[in-house]
Amino acid sequence: MESWRYYYITHLNHIICNPTSPAKYDQLLSLLPLSAEDQVLEIATGKGELMTQLVERFGVSGTAVDLSPYHSQDARDKFAARIPNADITFLEMDGAAYQPEKPESFALTACLGASWIFNGHKGTLQALINWTKPGGCIIVGEPYWLQEPHPDYLQMAGLERDVFASHHQNVLTGQSLGLNLLYTLVSTHDEWDVYEGLQWHAGELYAAAHPDDADMPEFLTRLRAQKQEYLQYGRDTLGWAIYLFRKP
Ligand SMILES: C[S@@+](CC[C@H](N)C(=O)[O-])C[C@H]1O[C@@H](n2cnc3c(N)ncnc32)[C@H](O)[C@@H]1O
Repeated sequence: MESWRYYYITHLNHIICNPTSPAKYDQLLSLLPLSAEDQVLEIATGKGELMTQLVERFGVSGTAVDLSPYHSQDARDKFAARIPNADITFLEMDGAAYQPEKPESFALTACLGASWIFNGHKGTLQALINWTKPGGCIIVGEPYWLQEPHPDYLQMAGLERDVFASHHQNVLTGQSLGLNLLYTLVSTHDEWDVYEGLQWHAGELYAAAHPDDADMPEFLTRLRAQKQEYLQYGRDTLGWAIYLFRKP
């Protein structure tokens, strides 16, 4: 089945599409030195929760980019409902093809949970650095290895060992690019359990309610493999953190 649809169904009940709690989003926002004159950019905005909260809290204007037609619609609906007067440009496009009108023009750039767009954590930081003003902030959300991944886990998850690094290495990568680390928000098991569990819950109930949907056999096979992979290995192997950097 189409991947966008798989993610749409599994994330039906998510507000935040990564393993961070609403309380940590509050904490993150409290750390941002933004004001109403600032412009922000978010690549892979998902359902638009972060951008919405940035506008609600600081009155910023911004650009939000996402490629999924489902999440793009969700984000547009959320912006219309919660921040109808905001100056937000929404672009339904590949983040890798995004070109700003001016380089180094955003007070904040962000990409949470989608570093594959730029071939990984380093590439994501490099792209965001080019679009961030001197003195501006960069937020990335990135997995990291809690422990060395078991080869069976890598095979089950279809992952290469070097697609992720350690938490410390994620910080060092930013520093090697000249960024200063301001803060990290490291997710707990509980936050991961919520992120994963909501997917099983939404997916199983959706499949039960749509028995005639031709996508459901493949959907359930994939969902249940994901469930097993997380419970058997992922929960103890993969961490998640949001890294807040400042560009000098
Ligand atoms: C794990 S979700 C994270 C969403 C959001 N950042 C959040 O944390 O709530 C990944 C997002 O990346 C988007 N995405 C995937 N590939 C993309 C691409 N090439 N360009 C832009 N967005 C993409 C997906 O549609 C999805 O919304």
